Amino acid sequence: MKTSHAKPKIYVRTARNSDKEAVFKFCRNTWSWGDYIPKVWDRWLQARNSVVFVATLNDVPVGISHLALDKPEECWLSGARTDPNYRRMGVATAITQKCINYAKTKGARIARLVTESNNEAARAVLQKLGFKPVAEFVEAATENVVDEGSENSRWAKAKDTGEIWIYLQSSEIYNKAAGLYTVLFHWYSLDEENLKKFVKKGKAILHENGKGEMDGLMLIDDATSREWREKSIQTCYIDGDYEATLDMLIFLKNHCYRLGFQKIYGFTYNYRPIKQALEKLDFEIDDTTKIIYEKAL
Ligand SMILES: CC(C)(COP(=O)(O)OP(=O)(O)OC[C@H]1O[C@@H](n2cnc3c(N)ncnc32)[C@H](O)[C@@H]1OP(=O)(O)O)[C@@H](O)C(=O)NCCC(=O)NCCS
Repeated sequence: MKTSHAKPKIYVRTARNSDKEAVFKFCRNTWSWGDYIPKVWDRWLQARNSVVFVATLNDVPVGISHLALDKPEECWLSGARTDPNYRRMGVATAITQKCINYAKTKGARIARLVTESNNEAARAVLQKLGFKPVAEFVEAATENVVDEGSENSRWAKAKDTGEIWIYLQSSEIYNKAAGLYTVLFHWYSLDEENLKKFVKKGKAILHENGKGEMDGLMLIDDATSREWREKSIQTCYIDGDYEATLDMLIFLKNHCYRLGFQKIYGFTYNYRPIKQALEKLDFEIDDTTKIIYEKAL
């Protein structure tokens, strides 16, 4: 609701439980299917290293945004929402600035977030706030979980971690993906510690060429099963050419088949040979892409 009058003062503060009703009301029709905010609200308000900020106009909540302090120097912004009746009044700008200032006081040096490639409003706000697009990911999914045989893929073992880390350092995909991986629409920097955790938990698949040299990596997670109450698994990061990816996906499908997973979500850096491998194995790829933005604080 843009008017020619002077803009009313926007206040930003941390969210309270009592904001719930007003926030849920303006989030009701954010997307054609609704919104996920009601599902995560309580968790966001209670979680450690997580803050929800609320913008108010005349004491009425009109916008929110969530901040997660992932690592000592990194933060993640999500859930930016402005009441449709109060858009283009600087609400999202004010909340994001508050998030950034708060994150800085906690020692964060970098802020990241994701938006869909077709979300023009969000992209315009981000550009104005000095965020830069650093990587583009795609989302794919298949329910065709079949028992097939892979040839040169296997679970990574602890002793492989050093080699995988060296591989990533010279990987074009790792570089172009800004060194990021994703779990549940949240992107994190993939450092050596994260890699070790994936390997230790049996969530890293590697591919070797005919000479036994590593030429592909796939990191997976089953958080989708817990979060979406379904038997599913997601890829968090894929690295390799068409052949390597195809073989690792077959390995993953086989694993899912044996464990009774019914759906696989393929998240990957937007790289043509990887997408071709996904399509070859019946993954449907979303038309829009996920753009990850970054701002140095
Ligand atoms: C994206 C969203 C949070 C922006 O909230 P907002 O409070 O309207 O944003 P602001 O008023 O701070 O906008 C700041 C600037 O961004 C740009 N902008 C914002 N919305 C825009 C739009 N729809 N089209 C073009 N530019 C836009 C403008 O430059 C604007 O400044 P101006 O109004 O002085 O020209 C809001 O549209 C929204 O809730 N959308 C639905 C949920 C969503 O997409 N969330 C983001 C997920 S990543």
